Amino acid sequence: MSIWTKKPLSILMQEASGEGDGALKRSLTAMNLTLLGIGAIIGAGIFVLTGTAAAQHAGPAIVISFLVAGAACAFAGLCYAEFASLIPIAGSAYTYGYATLGELLAWIIGWDLVLEYLFAASTVAVGWSGYFVQFLKDIGIALPASLTTAPFAVEGTHTLVRTGAIMNLPAVLLILLMTGLLVVGMKESAKFNNLIVYVKIAIVLLVIGFGAFYVDTANWSPFIPPQLTDAVTGALVPGKYGWSGIFAGAGVIFFAYIGFDAVSTAAQEAKNPQRDLPIGILASLAICTVLYILMALVMTGMVPFMKLDVAEPVYVALDAAGPQLAWLKYFATLGAIAGLASVVLVMLMGQPRIFYAMSRDGLLPPLFGRVHPKFGTPWLATIVTGVVAAAVAGLFPIGLLGQLVSIGTLFAFVIVCAGILVLRYRSPELKRPFRTPWVPFVPLAGMAICGWLMYNLPSDTWWRLGIWMAIGMLIYVFYGRTHSKLGRGSV
Ligand code: ALA
Repeated sequence: MSIWTKKPLSILMQEASGEGDGALKRSLTAMNLTLLGIGAIIGAGIFVLTGTAAAQHAGPAIVISFLVAGAACAFAGLCYAEFASLIPIAGSAYTYGYATLGELLAWIIGWDLVLEYLFAASTVAVGWSGYFVQFLKDIGIALPASLTTAPFAVEGTHTLVRTGAIMNLPAVLLILLMTGLLVVGMKESAKFNNLIVYVKIAIVLLVIGFGAFYVDTANWSPFIPPQLTDAVTGALVPGKYGWSGIFAGAGVIFFAYIGFDAVSTAAQEAKNPQRDLPIGILASLAICTVLYILMALVMTGMVPFMKLDVAEPVYVALDAAGPQLAWLKYFATLGAIAGLASVVLVMLMGQPRIFYAMSRDGLLPPLFGRVHPKFGTPWLATIVTGVVAAAVAGLFPIGLLGQLVSIGTLFAFVIVCAGILVLRYRSPELKRPFRTPWVPFVPLAGMAICGWLMYNLPSDTWWRLGIWMAIGMLIYVFYGRTHSKLGRGSV
């Protein structure tokens, strides 16, 4: 067996319909899946990053950045939807890769997805901690900075330095709490998620609806501020306004869209996966795209965009409206706290399900594939994920984590788009309950835009991706390759 061995689709289908020992419980509806998607999407991206991206890169044209990043996700989402309906089993892009590109690439994708899910949970938990600590302060409870900030910070572009803090305790506790919930059950977690998602959509709608009355159109002009020039050399500054800034902004707020693909990790817990997964993926993405664009328009219309360069831009925009919207400011803070927590929940749900799939294939130790006899969840994988994510969230700053998440996710998107092309060519006869439209245009455009957003990320992020992948390769060489069930002919 070679590293290019592909997992036969017939085996995957059989596993997907598997019942009994080691099977996950099927309890999620199309509505649950859509809400899971929204639960994962609306979070630190819109509540935190929009402001800095507008102030530092695009100005009011951050709205166009949202369109560009949204297009990348729409193309990738259409490809995810075809795969999710064709191979509705737990591993998401990892499983699609195994079926289309072979074991080695599947491993690479699976390992890469850790950057997306596990690290995203940590990133958003750090963002959550910021809002939560602020909220506690507002009600008169001050936590010491040494327990609410990371002990490591990035100096310059890549040197990690000690800050003197002990750890980001609220972020750690949030992750452990969500982990506990996920061990107990998907249904309970989905119920909790649904509730939060309604709250967060309501708050986004309130901000858009009320904020719209306080928009001063003068703030939108010029809509695309001219690109800045260096005072000394006179050269254009890349990524600072103008179209260059719009694309740099797209790279930053791409983070805001991450999560719709998490729906596909719940494939084996969906009641009717072939119909409902594409609905969950595409509906959650479409709803969030519309909300984001309206939210960005309102926020940049309420205050001059330079003022949004803060950790809580929604609060600042509402503050500018004066006492009439004071009540909404507090709701928005609570919405951010609840909303970010649900992102953490869904990301922590996605990761163990990928580990589960990898373990069932023999590429990871069997403990990752154990399903709890009573709760029906991959509990050990969930606990390992939670403990590692909590440690990462406790130790590292948000900027470093966020960029790693973006590069990891973009990489997975590129591979999923490529996989659709490969499979259409190799197995055109397969019955595809959902077909990506306009193939090859959609997957090619998805690869091009995602690849290009990756290209625009800082070189340090590429280095970190490289180091992460090198660690992954070592694990594959020393464990996965020799334990692979496909490789040993035991499937
Ligand atoms: N899209 C998620 C967020 O914005 C990761 O927090």
